[in-house]
Amino acid sequence: MDSNADSPEEGNEYDAALSAFYEPYFTGVEGDVAFYVAQAQAAGSPVLELGCGSGRILIPTAQAGVSITGLDRSAPMLAQARQRVAALSPETRRRIRLIQGDMRDFAIRRRFKLVTIPYRAFQHLLTPADQAQALLCIRDHLTKRGRLVFNLYDPSREFALGRATRAMQRDDDFIHPATGNRVVTWYRRQHEPVEQIMVQEFLFEEVDAGGSVLNRVYKTLTLRYTFRCEMQYLLELCGYTIEALHGDFHGGPYRGAEQVWVAQPA
Ligand SMILES: C[S@@+](CC[C@H](N)C(=O)[O-])C[C@H]1O[C@@H](n2cnc3c(N)ncnc32)[C@H](O)[C@@H]1O
Repeated sequence: MDSNADSPEEGNEYDAALSAFYEPYFTGVEGDVAFYVAQAQAAGSPVLELGCGSGRILIPTAQAGVSITGLDRSAPMLAQARQRVAALSPETRRRIRLIQGDMRDFAIRRRFKLVTIPYRAFQHLLTPADQAQALLCIRDHLTKRGRLVFNLYDPSREFALGRATRAMQRDDDFIHPATGNRVVTWYRRQHEPVEQIMVQEFLFEEVDAGGSVLNRVYKTLTLRYTFRCEMQYLLELCGYTIEALHGDFHGGPYRGAEQVWVAQPA
């Protein structure tokens, strides 16, 4: 390679503090790990996962016998992945390659049978120009019959209309991976409907056994939401044929919530 954007960390929201809480808190979408592993097994090696994060999907894919390259722009997320990879068998480790880079602008000297962007990582691209740049770059890394598989989600109608500016809401607690204390989580979602931007604010409160707050961490994730037809036209404009749009990870029809796209170079 393997070049990537000049400064992959620029604008990176997945810093050390958020990365430390990633695995216990961001647990994915129902069925996503099995779905992406099955896609990788069906395609065969090599597979490229963009926005691979801590390896939540990349590691089970390699354990299923598929060679996979993971690209992510966050050094702390890749550090989490490297730590997990180090504990795997030498055989599985040999199937994994991790690269720091930006999915909008990367160059890897090989083509892949499958490129995936699981868990809505494509939504971190905040403008249509960034989305198109990534789709064109991905197409250059796919084999002729390769597939691009990724998922997004639709905002609820109230959010899309910009009506909902909600107070912080309680979410599921989790156990702090380093200290073993309980972490109480709060979140709020704000919307910029004109730009189709959603800002997720998180507050993580680490509490002791008596419930006293020991530490507070505030984090923000900014996502762009893309409506179904917009995504369809963008894929077509960037040289893809759409093979399927599912509504879940079990092949169910699209119902206006999750968008699970399967596309091929046209
Ligand atoms: C929601 S996490 C998904 C991680 C993993 N795929 C999973 O399913 O658990 C999104 C990941 O995308 C990465 N990311 C965001 N923007 C990116 C970009 N432009 N290029 C590469 N990675 C990016 C973040 O650093 C983060 O690790």
